[in-house]
Amino acid sequence: MDTTAIVLAAGRGKRMQSGTPKQFMLLRGKPLLYYSLRVFEDSPLVDHVILVTEEENIAFCRSEIVERYGFHKVERITAGGKERYDSVYQGLIACEGTDYVLIHDSARPFIDGLMLERGLSAAVKYKACVLAMPSKDTVKIAGEDGFVKETPDRSRVWIIQTPQIFSYDLVRNAYDQLRAVGMEGVTDDAMVVEKAAGRKVYLVEGDYKNIKITTPEDLETAEYRLAKNEREI
Ligand code: CTP
Ligand code: MG
Repeated sequence: MDTTAIVLAAGRGKRMQSGTPKQFMLLRGKPLLYYSLRVFEDSPLVDHVILVTEEENIAFCRSEIVERYGFHKVERITAGGKERYDSVYQGLIACEGTDYVLIHDSARPFIDGLMLERGLSAAVKYKACVLAMPSKDTVKIAGEDGFVKETPDRSRVWIIQTPQIFSYDLVRNAYDQLRAVGMEGVTDDAMVVEKAAGRKVYLVEGDYKNIKITTPEDLETAEYRLAKNEREI
């Protein structure tokens, strides 16, 4: 079984409001992108890594991240696109022939080997799965008027993380199908599979620590956790 991680680092990080795209911001001296690449490099469950970044950052990624830290599994650094789903598609094109893909946001530095293990075994069984955790907060759906429209039963609300793991053919076919009719509103890969292929996506237990670094306050949480990890090593 051949597995490929597609690591997404082609976003602009608008909500971070920083000059540098957030994937290259330094956290305890290393770029944010380093941390998830490290986990894939060290995992025996992952054979190859495709890194997706903006065209103008490919050379920087090659010399300052891939070569500098010796990430030998990174076989290609490919240019992303305008939206996340465009970047994912470029990653999928770059790893044709693999059996399973783990699509991962480089903005989530706290994945670990156990999460990958749970995710891949579920992917082998169900062909499509996402890491997720039950919502700690009550979620409300707003109406267009700004008032509450409905309150979903909290026990059925899950917060979705990455990696999202799929059989390659399944997710590639789903992307090809949906791209033909339009991808508007797609925010994760599971949605593509749900819409296009009609295949059920399994929810695998992720971890509450697997946060996405999105806004400046997330950096403080990340610094704290990284410092804690360093003390524990
Ligand atoms: N991403 C990507 N290509 C895009 C957009 C996003 O590869 N065109 C990646 C980001 O680099 C990030 C992940 O997808 O690792 C999740 O996206 P998000 O957290 O939304 O990051 P950004 O899009 O960079 O941030 P923002 O939405 O605040 O601009
Ligand atoms: Mg975004």
